[in-house]
Amino acid sequence: MSVHTEAKKVTTHTLEKMKEKGEKISMITAYDFSFARIFDAAGIDVILVGDSASNVMAGHETTLPITLDQMIYHASSVIRGVNRSLVVVDMPFGSYQSNSKEALVSAFRIMKETGAHAVKLEGGEEVLESVKRIIAAGVPVMGHLGLTPQSIYKFGTYTVRAKEEAEADKLRKDAKLLEEAGCFAIVLEKIPATLAKEVSESLHIPTIGIGAGKYCDGQVLVMHDMLGINTEFKPRFLRQYLNLNESITNAVHQYIKDVKSTDFPNENEQY
Ligand code: KIV
Repeated sequence: MSVHTEAKKVTTHTLEKMKEKGEKISMITAYDFSFARIFDAAGIDVILVGDSASNVMAGHETTLPITLDQMIYHASSVIRGVNRSLVVVDMPFGSYQSNSKEALVSAFRIMKETGAHAVKLEGGEEVLESVKRIIAAGVPVMGHLGLTPQSIYKFGTYTVRAKEEAEADKLRKDAKLLEEAGCFAIVLEKIPATLAKEVSESLHIPTIGIGAGKYCDGQVLVMHDMLGINTEFKPRFLRQYLNLNESITNAVHQYIKDVKSTDFPNENEQY
């Protein structure tokens, strides 16, 4: 008899049950094997292969330039490091907005070529047909409302969304439509906490907030921001748990010093 016990995998149903029980959902972004392995082993519920890879991995100003091939590369690296967490992959800008057939083909590519468990796409009513078609094909979909970075040139700024009643009302309706379409969760980005509370309470599926306050059913942060790799980005909603930038800089300074002084490598560090 095998004594090996495998960790219980997180599924979309697990998240639904967590909401029912009032247990908060933890989600973090990852883009490569090594970090995904650490986050999975640490017990994170959901890993998002975010199109924020465009910013934090490739150095672009927006999420728009990242391609489907590049997202597939990141997601398949992440999957190789994961045993337990649910892995959700962002559908990048231009891979689903033209029509629902294009959306379905892109979702198929992500699922077949990465082994990920679900996709995420931004928007409400505008992308509803695509959401329905992807779900009908058996692919779980996470929605994303509020500040949707792929529409940054429409918004003009990264400020808080849905402060005005008309936009808040559209968001309420979009959240309901996404739930009715069969989404298993919705990210709410940078909206007032009171609105996020109202939306979270009105839905059976969980909401995952980023800059949307404490009443969401879960929270997500970009790993580079919460680990302090990216130190210039300091929005109010961000809690920085580490200053990795400083730790890495100090370690590299020490390494340079040791190489220059011939302290490294020493007798025990050679063959
Ligand atoms: O791409 C991303 O990292 C995201 C999160 C900010 C939710 O979509």
